This record gives sequence, C-alpha cells and structure tokens, in this order.
Amino acid sequence: MSEHWWRDAVIYQVYPRSFADANGDGMGDLEGIRSRIPYLAKLGVDAIWLSPFYASPQKDAGYDVSDYRAIDPRFGGLEDFDRMLETAHEAGIRLIVDLVPNHTSSEHVWFQAALAAAPGSPERERYHFRDVDPADPQTPPNNWQSIFGGPAWTRTPDGAQWYLHLFDSSQPDLNWDNAEVHEEFESVLRFWLDRGVDGFRIDVAHGMVKAPGLPDTGGDGTIEMIGTTQAPFFDQDGVHDIYRTWRPIIEEYEGDRIFVAEAWTDSAERRSLYLRPDELHQAFNFDLVLAPFGAVDFRKAIDSEIANNAGVGAPCTWVLSNHDVQRHVTRYGGGETGLARARAATQLLLSLPGVVYVYQGEELGLNEVLDLPAEVREDPSFHRTNGEQIGRDGCRVPLPWTREGVSLGFGPAGEPWLPQPADWTDLSVEAEDGVEGSTLEFYRKAIAIRKGHKATGLTWLADPGDDAFAFDNGALVAVVNFSDEPVPVEAYGEEVLLTSTPLVDGELPGGAAVWFKK
Ligand code: BGC
Repeated sequence: MSEHWWRDAVIYQVYPRSFADANGDGMGDLEGIRSRIPYLAKLGVDAIWLSPFYASPQKDAGYDVSDYRAIDPRFGGLEDFDRMLETAHEAGIRLIVDLVPNHTSSEHVWFQAALAAAPGSPERERYHFRDVDPADPQTPPNNWQSIFGGPAWTRTPDGAQWYLHLFDSSQPDLNWDNAEVHEEFESVLRFWLDRGVDGFRIDVAHGMVKAPGLPDTGGDGTIEMIGTTQAPFFDQDGVHDIYRTWRPIIEEYEGDRIFVAEAWTDSAERRSLYLRPDELHQAFNFDLVLAPFGAVDFRKAIDSEIANNAGVGAPCTWVLSNHDVQRHVTRYGGGETGLARARAATQLLLSLPGVVYVYQGEELGLNEVLDLPAEVREDPSFHRTNGEQIGRDGCRVPLPWTREGVSLGFGPAGEPWLPQPADWTDLSVEAEDGVEGSTLEFYRKAIAIRKGHKATGLTWLADPGDDAFAFDNGALVAVVNFSDEPVPVEAYGEEVLLTSTPLVDGELPGGAAVWFKK
C-alpha cells in the first residue's frame, strides 16, 4: 500500500442513469447503485466516481445542474444518497462525486434571476452576457462555437442580450471573475464534504476561466474538446488560482480526500500543471483514449505521462473508456478482435504505475451500441448537429445484469431509457459470473493480482516483436502484443500470473497481454 490510497487505486465510474434501476422507471437510481455495492466489492475496486445525480432538467444527462445541493428526484433523495454512501463505506469503497463548475443549467435559480434582471445587473454578472449590436443583431459577440455544435451564444428571450454557453444553450457558462461564483462553489464543496464524500471529479476542469475580452479563436471558431484545446476558453493560466483556493478546503477534512481533473490539454506538460502539490491530486490521461492500438503510440503516451507527473509528484491516471467516448472494445475494431485487444489494453493499464479508472460495463466487455435509432438518442451533440455528430448515447446504454427480462435485469420493470442490444444477453453479469475466461472473471482476477503486485516503477525490456513491448514494473513482468501475429514470450518469465488470452506453445497471441511472476 502506498501512503495515499489515491496513488494506486482502481476507481469505477458509475453513470447513474444506466447502472441499476431499483424503482423500475427505466432510469437508474441511487438505490439501484446501493443494491449493487456487493458486486463492486467483489470486483475489487477501491472507489466509485459517480457522474452527476443532482437536480437537473437532464438536457445533458445531468451535466446541467439546476441545484447543486439537491438530488434529482429521478435518482432519489438526499436520504438515498446518504444510505448509498454509508453502504459503500461499509464495503470499504470510497465515493467521488462529480462537480460541474463551468456552467449551470438554465433552470438554476441564478440564471432565472439573471434573465429576470436588467442588463448590467449583479444577477447578470454571474454569467457572460453581452449586448446585441443593433446594427448587426444576428452576429454573436465573438466566433466561439459550442462543443456540441452551433454557435456558443444564444439571445435572451427578450432579444436584448447574448449569453455564452460552451455546451448546450441550456448550460450557460458561469463568470469566474465574479466573487459570488467562487463563494458559491466553495460552499458546495463543503456541503458534500460534510456529507462524507471522498472527493470530486471536476468537470471541464480546464474551462471556467476565459481570456480577457473574450477574443475570437483562430479559424472558424470550431473547437473540439476531445483532441486539441488551444482556445481562449480552455486551459487558461488563471484557472490554477481557483484550484489553489480549493486545495486548502479539502485538506481541512480528514480522510485523504481528492480532486480529479477532467482537463483536456494539448500536452502532458500542460496537464501536469493541474497536479502541482497545491492544486489537484489526479488528472485523467486521455492520451490512451486517443491512441490507436499500437506499441509505438502507447509507449509514447506512457513515457510522457510518467515523466511529466514525476516532475510534480503526482500519480499517473490511466483511462480507456468513459461516458463521453466510444467504448474501447469498439474503438479497437469490435467483435472478437476488439474484445481481445480491449482486455489486453486493460491488463496493460492495471500493471502501470498509478491509478486506473474503469467505466461501468467494460468489465463485461460491452461494445458501443452503434445502431440506436435517432428518436431514442438524447445527447445534445446529436441534436445540435442534426446527427452529423453521432453523440455519446452508444456508450451509455443501461447495463445487462441478467440474461432475461424486459431490461436484462437493469430494473424490475419498465423499458430502459435506451434499448439494449439483443446479444447483450451473453454479456450480462449473470452470463459471465463464475465462468472461467469471461471478461468479468478476467477483470476480477486482474484487479486481485494487481493488489498483491503494485507497480513501483517501469523499466522497459527488450521488445518481443515489432508491434509489442515488455516491461518490469517492480512487482511483475508484463508483455503486450499489439500486432496480429503471435510473439515468443518464454524469455520473460516462467510462471504466468495472468493472460488476457491464453498462451499457445509459449507464444502470446496477437492482441493479448501476459503477466509473469518476477
Ligand atoms: C462531461 C460531459 C458533459 C460536458 C459538459 C464533460 O466533459 O464529461 O459528459 O457533456 O462536460 O458538462
């Protein structure tokens, strides 16, 4: 065990609306999560990161918060939250909640008050309002485009002003130059810390602060959050001042609580700035989400993360899937090949030094659902681009718990909010539980072995083949074969601790990983 639990934890992301539905309304809820804590304990995870469950009109699946201190009735109430937290803690599982400080919902009392107040009023100062130019009323104040498509500005209902929203028009951006905004979020942090949460995942942690004067971006103003982020509204140096005021707050509380940043930056160097000792504890490394399945790209991402994070004394934070990106089974080609590669990549992550995040359902080998009909899709990016961006619904389909039933055991009754593919019967928990070689049993075994073999570093060994690599992490030797051809691995060890696909005649098949005892 390292001195701090969060330096080498396995953390499981629960997406509340799609995890487990206790009341049978087709949407997951907190009681559903509570009922499945034993499942998570058996999987062996150290903590849960829970995506937003706050009061929200659900225009962006809860990332549009209308009350930061209330639970959305679709998910339960504060008592349900407390009970779930208690059950998790009893099982030795910590809970990290999601904080959304870049924007509120347009239904938040502050935004409603702003709309009711006059231009220039203190109520409007909490957001970014700008006057409409009477000579050119159709042209927004600058060329910024919403991440979800279309302009980042919408006119107020009376037509007199524009307001800024980097995401959907129902998600107005807060003005972080305003003292009240700072005070409010410090109070929200304390509200949840007082309730006993173990930390926060900070949504759009590289957002919040905008360049003075809100200057145009280069080009046509279109910026993708996933990928490159050089923009006057992302990764501005001023954002670090906010985290320097938050760190002392969390430090006041006992229990080694943490902040994890969702910060899409241009480089590992820029990301590591969020991890300086007086700022945040972890920042997701998205390089492996973006990397093609190949030894060169993976090695480059691993080396750069290790070097940059060492510079600030922070743990590496590995991730392959989450609720915003295509599931990695599908990214790696889908079908049997995609699943084999996904398992290999997961085994790799679990042997790297640092923290590993697991997105719900990846432990079952779930694929992205690519063929959801347009009418069931809810992601605003799909609707704002008229389907040009397919959106993120395909990785948010409710989990299959049983082989049978209207929602494959997701809930006791009711159609799930997104339809599940028929072949998920075979990927259900019931179908995989206790079955040797299933992806679920593979995850359980891998996480258990990791506990006894925590990486202390990483030393590259001679490559076993062209598109393959091997390393010693201080506790075991790992070999990963990214190619389609088998590679000989006998030279790396005698006793196999785990393989993502069994060895054949001393060779590691294509798209597979193996751990050897040292
Ligand atoms: C969240 C997304 C959300 C966006 C706006 C993100 O990075 O992970 O799901 O749509 O922030 O809040």
